[in-house]
Amino acid sequence: MYLLIPAAGSGRRIGSDRNKLLLPVFGKPLIAWTLLAAKLSRSIRWIGVVGQPDDFPDFKDIINGIGMSKMVHLIPGGDTRQASVFCGLQGLPAVAERVLIHDGARCLVTPALFDRCAEELLTCPGLIAAVPVKDTIKIVQPTSQMITGTPDRGNLWAAQTPQGFQVEALTRCHQEGEDKGWQVTDDAMLFEQCGFPVKIVPGEETNLKVTTIMDLAIAEFILRQRAK
Ligand code: CTP
Ligand code: MG
Repeated sequence: MYLLIPAAGSGRRIGSDRNKLLLPVFGKPLIAWTLLAAKLSRSIRWIGVVGQPDDFPDFKDIINGIGMSKMVHLIPGGDTRQASVFCGLQGLPAVAERVLIHDGARCLVTPALFDRCAEELLTCPGLIAAVPVKDTIKIVQPTSQMITGTPDRGNLWAAQTPQGFQVEALTRCHQEGEDKGWQVTDDAMLFEQCGFPVKIVPGEETNLKVTTIMDLAIAEFILRQRAK
């Protein structure tokens, strides 16, 4: 299975002056943990890390340091996550039929979750890892700040990555998204908007996206527990 790792962000919300994926977590740069989970999965054979070229020297050191230089390829990314994934799709080998996409910032992903998604992707065109929402969600009118609705929580799932797709179909969706100026926050949303079915694969409660300093502290705690 082919894996693309969007890693071309900056880490604005974490307050870092460099890519948050280079910040240390439990003794290693954040992205090293993401890569090591992929290395330990049975299914992933080829990895494209989509990054800003300025970060490539650091990424190369990390990739060499964890013995992954044979399977990891660096691909220049874009200004948004959406643009970076599109760059990644164009950097895949022509023979790639299916691809998993997994945010570099979700460094607590397990090899088992990669394998579950890879296996399920053999039987459907698109899927995402997701978990049931725990909070009650409110829809709020932005100017008045008044609640306009409360969707039934039983039907709400929080989207995670990995997300998996047929490469040709996803590439067409990204092209259409770019042509029509759609702005999406995950790849499934493009796939859905183009009319393709997307399936849910049970994700993991611990598979959080490191976005804030609090997330970084939680990630450090969980990695420490796992090492015991
Ligand atoms: N990403 C990317 N290309 C971009 C922006 C983001 O590949 N132009 C990647 C990030 O590196 C991350 C994932 O997409 O692995 C999810 O993005 P996010 O958590 O928003 O990371 P940042 O954009 O770095 O953080 P922030 O939005 O706080 O600046
Ligand atoms: Mg971002």
